[in-house]
Amino acid sequence: MPDNFQSGPFQRIKAGKAEPRKTPCVDASPDPCAMVIFGASGDLTRRKLIPALFKLFLADIIGEEFFVLGVARTEMDHDGFRIAMEEALKASGEFDSAAWEGFAKRLFYIAADYNDEGAYATIARFLEEKEVPFGTGGNRIFYVATPPSVYETIAGLLGSSGLAGERSGWTRLVVEKPYGRDTASARRLDSAVLSSFSEPQVYRIDHYLGKETVQNILMLRFANTIFEPLWNRHYIDHVQITVAETLGVERRAGYYEQAGVLRDMFQNHMSQVLALAAMEPPSVYDPELVRDERSKVLLALRRPPLEDINDWLCLGQYAGGEIDGKTVPGYREEEGVAKESLVPTFAAMRVYIDNWRWQGVPIYLRSGKRLGKRLSEVSVQFRSVPHLMFRDTIGEEIGPNTLILKIQPEERIQLKFHTKSPGSRVCLRDVFMDFSYLDGYKGLTLGAYERVLTDCMIGDKTLFVRKDGVSLSWEFLTPILEYIEKNGKGAPEVNLYKAGSHGPAEADRFISKDGRHWRNE
Ligand code: NDP
Ligand code: BG6
Repeated sequence: MPDNFQSGPFQRIKAGKAEPRKTPCVDASPDPCAMVIFGASGDLTRRKLIPALFKLFLADIIGEEFFVLGVARTEMDHDGFRIAMEEALKASGEFDSAAWEGFAKRLFYIAADYNDEGAYATIARFLEEKEVPFGTGGNRIFYVATPPSVYETIAGLLGSSGLAGERSGWTRLVVEKPYGRDTASARRLDSAVLSSFSEPQVYRIDHYLGKETVQNILMLRFANTIFEPLWNRHYIDHVQITVAETLGVERRAGYYEQAGVLRDMFQNHMSQVLALAAMEPPSVYDPELVRDERSKVLLALRRPPLEDINDWLCLGQYAGGEIDGKTVPGYREEEGVAKESLVPTFAAMRVYIDNWRWQGVPIYLRSGKRLGKRLSEVSVQFRSVPHLMFRDTIGEEIGPNTLILKIQPEERIQLKFHTKSPGSRVCLRDVFMDFSYLDGYKGLTLGAYERVLTDCMIGDKTLFVRKDGVSLSWEFLTPILEYIEKNGKGAPEVNLYKAGSHGPAEADRFISKDGRHWRNE
């Protein structure tokens, strides 16, 4: 069945198929399929894709009718690939010796150059040969897990070799981030991809959308009556979205030196979390309608005044320091990083959404590497009470109510409010109502890659980014990136911060000028 039918919530189990396998957290059964991974000798395949597929196999979410064909230039045969993947699973802690044999015989590998047309003919022949014995029904996923410089070539040659077409089954293309490096390159990539594939065949990954707690933002907002009436400019003072990492650039300097934090985190993960936190409710939980609403938020982002860039953007780069008791080098000392690099590893940005709901509400976005604590959260700070009748009695300010949606590593929702402190004196204290996401749930949970791979096999695009979603986010960021890059050392300055800290002190000054403070926990 072609992939271009709109799958609403009641249509996801397609006609003529067997009853879906019942699992606690997947409401439709993934279709049988072959997955071709380009760049299969790489880090993403080893650390994320194969462990995710193995977990789905263990949980019987994907079954017998499935196989993987790894493609990359590194010389290896099927057995070599299996050995490498076994090691990868052992390293990830996901290995299960009882299930390994069954999984391993579904792994294959072809060494090939991505530019070589002949390689695509070999892939086609291989797929045709294996599809019948494995019962995959001609359904194919092409997963591009190479560096971005090769995306266009692969998409183009899949098209010209005839592999992008759909015959007995569906064909889908999964493209990793980064999807371009600015508006123009994202458009170029789109035209290469869309000259071979149709938009419904294209799945642009943003793995943050696959995180349970990120999806839960919509459930919390739109499956409860008590939050939504307050979720607007009348009650919300400001919102803080933080993605703080303790990791540094690791071995990705080659990529990161070209990207920096704005391209690496803001264009995709931060924008998508912002879109979920700010979007309007669609009438139905339907992939296209949800993505329409996410896009509308990005479209409504106010273009900030570049001449006042220091008022709404603060950049930083980590210097050496200590994380979890270990000394770590500064960014410029990392392997592959230029000694005088000005690439930011931290950014804090104030944005506004120009629409009825959010007019005038500042939204602070902050992300950085080598910070003191790994923490991703959306913190909604409500307005202070209009009049404090206890003012004279307690003689102190009381803070506002805050709703904190903790995305990772803790998966919680906390509501900070005030109660009377026990005792004879009238005094208040801050307390938290605290919900742990997995409390009371004993079923299987899916990690972000497990979830997005499953959805791709099902054909549900809710958690993937549509063409307009990518381009709107680039249209917002590109003028900012161009301004920064054109000004080089100029504005804004890249402030050094100590690894293990909360980021540069300038980011604190930047928000406190607005009379607000970061939540730093
Ligand atoms: P790698 O750098 O490990 O590259 C993957 C494979 O691509 C390599 O094994 C190599 O295989 C091939 N390759 C490397 N350089 C080139 C080149 N210049 N030209 C052609 N082929 C090349 O990348 P990752 O696996 O880390 O990432 C793959 C994609 O996924 C990237 O776009 C990345 O941004 C994205 N991504 C990665 C994440 C991660 O955690 N690793 C997280 C999120 C996104 P061979 O030499 O055998 O052909
Ligand atoms: C990736 C970025 O997309 O997301 C990395 O390229 C970053 O730089 C990673 O470390 C963060 O993902 P997570 O799931 O570990 O928060």
